[in-house]
Amino acid sequence: MRDLLPPTVAVAVAAPDDWTGELLTAEQACLGERAVQARRRDFTAGRVCARRAMADLGLPAVAVPAAADRAPIWPAGVVGAITHTTGYCAAAAARATDLRSVGIDAERHREVNAGVRRLVLLPEEEESLARLPSGISWPVVLFSAKETVYKVWHPVVGSWLDFHDAHLTLDPDAGTFTARIAAARVEAADVDDPPSTITGRFVVADGLVRTAAVLPLR
Ligand SMILES: CC(C)(COP(=O)(O)OP(=O)(O)OC[C@H]1O[C@@H](n2cnc3c(N)ncnc32)[C@H](O)[C@@H]1OP(=O)(O)O)[C@@H](O)C(=O)NCCC(=O)NCCS
Repeated sequence: MRDLLPPTVAVAVAAPDDWTGELLTAEQACLGERAVQARRRDFTAGRVCARRAMADLGLPAVAVPAAADRAPIWPAGVVGAITHTTGYCAAAAARATDLRSVGIDAERHREVNAGVRRLVLLPEEEESLARLPSGISWPVVLFSAKETVYKVWHPVVGSWLDFHDAHLTLDPDAGTFTARIAAARVEAADVDDPPSTITGRFVVADGLVRTAAVLPLR
């Protein structure tokens, strides 16, 4: 994930011990006592990585609780994102004086069935993916990129974004993507200068698709 983000972003990738690491009290309260073990491991690895990323920025490694909708609540002055998938977890954090928002996502590199494709891809995206080189499951790259876009968008705008609310184009040689947000969502956004375009990077390696994007300061 590190190579997908600018140097102002601190990135922590979970080591084996991080999945069974310590949660702070405020984090434990969000997870609850009844979380199944897999959820506990994912949540714990994400929080351990989040605090390590903040420490790498020279900031206090304070708790990162979760809102009711599961969005992480970063301390004032910090923007960040968390992702986990089978066997992989990472967190990214930056000072809010350097970036407006950051998003990251990781998915297992896999085929995506027709139902998921319809949910995630616009017809024009499906068409453009058919022209890309074979050997990569491009729908899962777009799926991951759209989740990254959502993680960039939501902390800034605070509103929902459906998979069909962003039109993505990929540059497979450069390893970049550009998301154009539906005009209706941008116009409805209740913030100054809502992003209409979000650009990011992707990589497919080691059985994983990783995507990341940042929103620069206005
Ligand atoms: C929120 C969402 C993007 C998470 O993605 P995911 O692949 O399910 O899971 P990941 O492991 O990559 O990410 C999970 C982390 O996302 C973070 N997250 C959850 N809701 C979030 C939000 N509203 N904003 C930012 N981050 C959020 C959390 O840190 C969560 O981990 P945690 O619960 O352990 O803290 C996804 O569940 C979702 O709701 N997607 C629909 C919206 C969307 O993607 N639209 C596409 C717009 S183009």
